[in-house]
Amino acid sequence: MTEAEAKPRRPRPYEDAPRLPEGDLVDARTLVRGEWLEIEVGPGRGGFMFERAVAAPHAGLIGLEVRRKWAAIVDARLAKHGLAPRARVFAEDAKSALGRLRPSGGFRVAYLHFPDPWWKKRHTKRLVMGDVFLEQIARLLEPGGELYVQTDVEERAAEYEDQILACGLYDPAGDAPGSPRMAENPYGARSPREHRAIKDGLPVNRLRFVRRAAAAPTGP
Ligand SMILES: C[S@@+](CC[C@H](N)C(=O)[O-])C[C@H]1O[C@@H](n2cnc3c(N)ncnc32)[C@H](O)[C@@H]1O
Repeated sequence: MTEAEAKPRRPRPYEDAPRLPEGDLVDARTLVRGEWLEIEVGPGRGGFMFERAVAAPHAGLIGLEVRRKWAAIVDARLAKHGLAPRARVFAEDAKSALGRLRPSGGFRVAYLHFPDPWWKKRHTKRLVMGDVFLEQIARLLEPGGELYVQTDVEERAAEYEDQILACGLYDPAGDAPGSPRMAENPYGARSPREHRAIKDGLPVNRLRFVRRAAAAPTGP
């Protein structure tokens, strides 16, 4: 045995962060209890999950956070506050994990708050927002289920608006007919970045869409 082999491997930080169960398909109803299901992609420090768990005590909440550190910390905090039966955060890259989640058509709301703080062309592949995200979220949402997106960058909001409408899976559901724009967040809960933007006096661009009834779920 070489010296390197004999040396115990140092655990990676937050190696034990909670992951989705193994397997091709993961039924969210086995992970959280609730009269309906909601999903947040990229909860970061998790404030929205806590506030939403209070505002909607009958919802089951799933968070997918790619950063192991925040997934582990937030999931443990939710458990400490007795919320684990109905609110969990898993250390997963949503781009690969969403496709495993079930039930198709079983989620009422999907949240994407202040995503993708990357602006360079070479970072395009990191972006969460894109065809895979929009298709998988449409598959997971019940007909009429809501996709809610927020950002403090107006150009990004305009891009999201165009992209989401162009994919043909969603209809706008904002304050005025035919527009996804909303003046206020209607969910009784704010994300950490949203709190920060409000404190700093930055405008928050809020977009809401509903999944088209015709966007039939694919897969089991
Ligand atoms: C700018 S932060 C916003 C955090 C939080 N949503 C808020 O509004 O305060 C973006 C978050 O998305 C997470 N994220 C980025 N790509 C992701 C992916 N592919 N899957 C899951 N989470 C992702 C980041 O780790 C980060 O926590």
